[in-house]
Amino acid sequence: MSTMDWSNLGFGYIRTDYNVRCRYSNGAWGDIEECTDENINIHMAATCLHYGQDAFEGLKAFRGKDGKIRIFRLEANAERLQSSCDGIMMPRVSTELFREMVKKVVGLNERFVPPYESGASLYIRPLLIGISPQVGVSPSTEYLFVIFVTPVGPYYKAGFATNNCVIFRNIDRAAPLGTGRYKVGGNYASGMKASHAAHVQGYACEIYLDAKEKKYIDECGAANFIGIKDNRYITPLSTSILPSITNNSLMQIARDMGLVVEQRPVLLEEVSGFDEAGACGTAAVISPIGRIDDAETGETFVISKDGTPGPVLTSLYHGLRAIQYGDVEDKYGWVTIL
Ligand code: PLP
Ligand code: COI
Repeated sequence: MSTMDWSNLGFGYIRTDYNVRCRYSNGAWGDIEECTDENINIHMAATCLHYGQDAFEGLKAFRGKDGKIRIFRLEANAERLQSSCDGIMMPRVSTELFREMVKKVVGLNERFVPPYESGASLYIRPLLIGISPQVGVSPSTEYLFVIFVTPVGPYYKAGFATNNCVIFRNIDRAAPLGTGRYKVGGNYASGMKASHAAHVQGYACEIYLDAKEKKYIDECGAANFIGIKDNRYITPLSTSILPSITNNSLMQIARDMGLVVEQRPVLLEEVSGFDEAGACGTAAVISPIGRIDDAETGETFVISKDGTPGPVLTSLYHGLRAIQYGDVEDKYGWVTIL
């Protein structure tokens, strides 16, 4: 892969050698197939196309200084996919099948795992879709589980630097007790309008308030929200947000650093009092937030006065990356070495 400019990768799709697939029919999962074709051939009446029976995951593999490949929090991603399956009536993919397929697809595409020095990683995208033809609204009887990988750099162009965010009160991503807590395709379709408007207006991402009261912060685009104040790590508790595995990991690292973790409803009004704020996720890692603008009320909530990332999020970012790349001990068993 000498032609690949590893240090300047964006967050896009680059073709790799293989994907892996497994089909569910007659109530059981079949054999794992290795595939070089990037296309899937499905019926035009497949339930995933019409009724959104589609769930996905996102995790990463990292190459360490020692050359070893580490997959971060594979089991937690398998469990979240199982929760998404329950949420939209799809058969669960067992943790064992998920593990076997993730390891296989990363191994088959080993030459696409970026070198340690590049700071890039291999993004792993598992996708589960209902494929049986059905016009009535009911769960599919057949499913396809496919995992592909693609090398990625930073999600936000500037990497670890502050970004500004915007709130559009006239668009909700998910309802309380709706599908926001599952990683299903429809949530991303409902966020595209706000996300597009944010980008057009020069913001890195949109922030969603809780759909019921419009008082609390829910999420930042495809990432969870974190605030830091007086040695406390504050992150929203809400039934309409995705339980971020990055956030879950950072809460543990924060506790290890002596911070007090508060997972609770977070009022929008509170944020200008925060010492630091950021968005976190597999793709975003931690993206510090400089300022949040409310597009409807015209209010501005300034977090970073000088526009630079604060010290606590900077330490959390380095703490997380050190575990992912194998620079420090994996004391919680988060890493699967290939
Ligand atoms: N929230 C949403 C809506 C997401 O799409 C993601 C990305 O996966 C996250 C939060 C962050 O979750 P994780 O840290 O598990 O990647
Ligand atoms: C992730 O962080 O894994 C995501 O899924 C974000 C996104 C590209 C949808």
